[in-house]
Amino acid sequence: MRPWIAVPPQQGRRIVITGANSGVGFQAARILGSRGAELVLACRNLEKAEAAARQVPGYDAGRVVVRRLDVADLSSVRAFADALLEEYDGIDVLVNNAGVLGAPFGLTNDGVETHFATNHLGHFALTNLLLPRIRDRVVVTSSREHRRGTLDLDDLTWERRPYRAFAAYSQSKLADLLFMSELQRRLTAAGSSVRAVGAHPGASSTNITGGSGNPVLTWIGYHGSRLVSMPAWRGALCTVYAATMDIPGDTYIGPHGRLELHGWPSAARRSKRAEDAELGRRLWDISEKLSSVTFPL
Ligand SMILES: NC(=O)c1ccc[n+]([C@@H]2O[C@H](COP(=O)([O-])OP(=O)(O)OC[C@H]3O[C@@H](n4cnc5c(N)ncnc54)[C@H](OP(=O)(O)O)[C@@H]3O)[C@@H](O)[C@H]2O)c1
Repeated sequence: MRPWIAVPPQQGRRIVITGANSGVGFQAARILGSRGAELVLACRNLEKAEAAARQVPGYDAGRVVVRRLDVADLSSVRAFADALLEEYDGIDVLVNNAGVLGAPFGLTNDGVETHFATNHLGHFALTNLLLPRIRDRVVVTSSREHRRGTLDLDDLTWERRPYRAFAAYSQSKLADLLFMSELQRRLTAAGSSVRAVGAHPGASSTNITGGSGNPVLTWIGYHGSRLVSMPAWRGALCTVYAATMDIPGDTYIGPHGRLELHGWPSAARRSKRAEDAELGRRLWDISEKLSSVTFPL
């Protein structure tokens, strides 16, 4: 496999990235910004976001802007989307990157389990709200962990099974891929040229376990991942590839190496469950009900 770092020039393209102040999202912003993209960093903490923006190569406040978005709060998603729709007549790429792993059990203000709310539902709502302005594509971020995921649509709040944080994460990452494929089916049926594609960063050294509330997991996540993982910019290349290269809708990109842990962007494998179109349709219907947001095209 040949290294891939040949990111096409991005001048004239406006790219919105959620969770762009840290890890994969931050490194993707740096790479895309260095190629001339206009960026909207959509983050829940504006101070961290401003600091991240200033580290984008060639930073200027007109080209790299920061907006507040708590993707786990549907009122914040709506406020963010309304402001963007007002401000911009076109968004080339939406990168749904923000995510949490290992969070203790909790329900959001909307009554949705934290992983499902952050990793799937908020991005589901955001995508559909922004879709009328999206010109090129939506990039969904999943994980190798989706393969362990099962999706219990009758128990999304974990009342009938013991809560396990990793199972909740895997479930949400399976939901991401099902969402990508169902979105592409809907875009195709609507005659839209917008693409829904996906990426995962393999094992990348980031702060992903930092919100777990578990000091041991946070320590292992932080120090352990630095030993066994790729630097975050290498993982971010998969996101950047999915955001910039001419690939068909419903393509899923991940690192090419063994078990897709490390390597250069390449076609990634997905589980049989992630290809279950009926499950994808049921997830879509439930996500519409939970978010009160529908497909706009
Ligand atoms: N690292 C890996 O090996 C790996 C593997 C597979 C998939 N992924 C996926 O890659 C994506 C990026 O994660 P990462 O590894 O780069 O971890 P990270 O360094 O922790 O970055 C996650 C980002 O998401 C943001 N975020 C979390 N909850 C949010 C919310 N409610 N609203 C807005 N932003 C929120 C975080 O903001 P704060 O800084 O404010 O917390 C942070 O900017 C995730 O979707 C993750 O599932 C990562």
